[in-house]
Amino acid sequence: MMMMQDELKKAVGWAALDYVTPGTIVGVGTGSTAAHFIDALGSIKHQIEGAVSSSEASTEKLKSLGIPVFDLNSVDRLAIYVDGADEINDQMQMIKGGGAALTREKIIAAVADKFICIADASKQVQVLGKFPLPVEVISMARSYVARELVKLGGLPEYRQHVVTDNGNVILDVHNLSIIDPCALEIAINALPGVVTVGLFATRAADVALIGSADGVKTLTQ
Ligand code: 5RP
Repeated sequence: MMMMQDELKKAVGWAALDYVTPGTIVGVGTGSTAAHFIDALGSIKHQIEGAVSSSEASTEKLKSLGIPVFDLNSVDRLAIYVDGADEINDQMQMIKGGGAALTREKIIAAVADKFICIADASKQVQVLGKFPLPVEVISMARSYVARELVKLGGLPEYRQHVVTDNGNVILDVHNLSIIDPCALEIAINALPGVVTVGLFATRAADVALIGSADGVKTLTQ
C-alpha cells in the first residue's frame, strides 16, 4: 500500500514538470511528494535558472542535484510554486504543515502566480480537519494559543521535539471539522503568538494534480 502511494506521489511529482517554463526560477515545496518533483526538476536543471525552497531539507536536496537555490528576497516574481498537501478539498483549499514547513511554504505560495498542488488521491477530502491542523507558534505563546484554540473547538497537541526552520514550535489541532476554512484561517492567524496556520484557504491552489490508480487527474479553479 505504502509502495503504491509512493508511486502515485512520484507520478504527480513528475507531471508537474509540464508547468515549468524554461529559464525561470521555480518555487519548491517540502515533503515526500515535493521530493519527487525535485528529482524531476533535476532532470531539466540546465533548462531552469534555479529554485526558491521552502525548507532546509528541500534546499539540501536541490543543491545535491546541482540546482541553484535563490534567496526569496532576490526574486521579484515566481511563476509557479509546486508543493504537496496533507488534505485538499474540492475548492482546492488545503491543510499543510505535516512536515513543519508551513510558514516558508505560505510565504512562497503568496509570491507565486500559480500554486500547483501535487498529491495522491488519499489526500482528497470533503471537509478539512481530519488531519490535525498544524499551527506554528512562538514558543512563549504556546499555552496561551493552545487555550484559544480550545475555545475555537480544537484539541491542540504540542508536537514534541520539533523546532521549525524558523526556531518556533508546532501545535497540531485535532477534532476540527472545518466548515468555513477562510474564516478559521483568519481567526487563528489573528491570535498573538501565531506565526502561521497550516490552512491554505484564502489562497488556495490554482491547479491540483491528483494521483490515483487511474492516472493523474488535473483539477483547476
Ligand atoms: C510539509 C507539507 C507537505 O506538503 C505535506 O505534509 C505533504 O507531505 P507528503 O508529500 O510527504 O505526503 O505541508 O510541511
